[in-house]
Amino acid sequence: MRIAVFSAQPYDKQFLEQENSQHGYELSYFDQQLNEANAELCKGFDAVCAFVNDDLSAPVLNRLKAHRVKFIAMRCAGFNNVDLVTAKSLELPVVRVPAYSPEAVAEHTLALILTLNRKTHRAYNRVRESNFTLNGLLGFNLHGKTVGLIGTGQIGLATAKILNGFGCKLIAYDPYPNPEYVSLGGHYVELEQLYSRSDIITLHCPLNEGSYHLVDEASISRMKEGVMIINTSRGGLVDTKALIAGLKSRKIQALGLDVYEQESQLFFHDHSGKIIDDELFERLQSFPNVLITGHQGFFTEEALTQIAAITLNNLTCLAGDQPCENELTHAIS
Ligand code: NAI
Repeated sequence: MRIAVFSAQPYDKQFLEQENSQHGYELSYFDQQLNEANAELCKGFDAVCAFVNDDLSAPVLNRLKAHRVKFIAMRCAGFNNVDLVTAKSLELPVVRVPAYSPEAVAEHTLALILTLNRKTHRAYNRVRESNFTLNGLLGFNLHGKTVGLIGTGQIGLATAKILNGFGCKLIAYDPYPNPEYVSLGGHYVELEQLYSRSDIITLHCPLNEGSYHLVDEASISRMKEGVMIINTSRGGLVDTKALIAGLKSRKIQALGLDVYEQESQLFFHDHSGKIIDDELFERLQSFPNVLITGHQGFFTEEALTQIAAITLNNLTCLAGDQPCENELTHAIS
């Protein structure tokens, strides 16, 4: 099987090559994001392996089909960038990696919470400058604080387990309650209550039509004064303009983002030395209480090993005409 790997970074190559020793597929790596303009590159390939910011909208899928691509393998969990209805109608099966290491993203969520709270990023710089003053570094105990989780699937649950260890009170909203979360001692509440009661709100739900801009001006207005908001899921879950207004009014005390709505223009590439034209991103960067990381929640050795293994196994299933439990197009009627 010939596989075209898009948005390929050196680490993708490293982990895919390691796993491919068991499969012997022919892998070609393109560092570009897949889009309509470069879909020609897929000519002669049996499968396309794509990531979070590749464009798999209807026009691109049509081109892939015309180039006789047979399978699409997402090497990620989220699939908001794939038009599944079109893929199904074109008989282009799409597979993904639903869970590789929920702990990787959960642990990164905690890294954002702890850094924002105890300001270790600022302390590091101060101590290196031989400045040992503590003014401005004041934090709060996580113990006893109420954390609101939006989404209690794999990552939400892994995050809840860690927060439970910190002695936090857990409340959550999810249309499909998870018994494992309840057995941890967590409670489900309506979104309204989650907004009004949480000291920290952390997002762990997928981006879809129902969750787009879930955190907007109206929901922020219902949150506690001084709330901390963390988003390690997808940028489109939050309205960036509303976040900026919330930061300016001091309603939001701290904001941690591993994802950003316009991230496809920025993330996974080196823009140092260039001028960034995104005014909203630059405004976010100007706040001392905002911490942004470039979609690295998944970025651990364990997760990359799992992603590579599951991606290639998914393709082996499809090529062998075997049922694949990670196929997304199955669920489309
Ligand atoms: P999952 O499918 O196990 O859990 C998602 C949960 O969200 C489910 O329980 C579902 O019922 C719930 N949900 C759906 N719509 C909701 C809504 N409107 N409000 C509240 N809950 C809702 O998914 P998993 O593995 O926990 O991943 C969650 C998200 O994390 C993914 O969709 C992806 O966007 C993001 N992610 C981010 C990564 C990163 O590197 N930062 C890496 C992997 C995933």
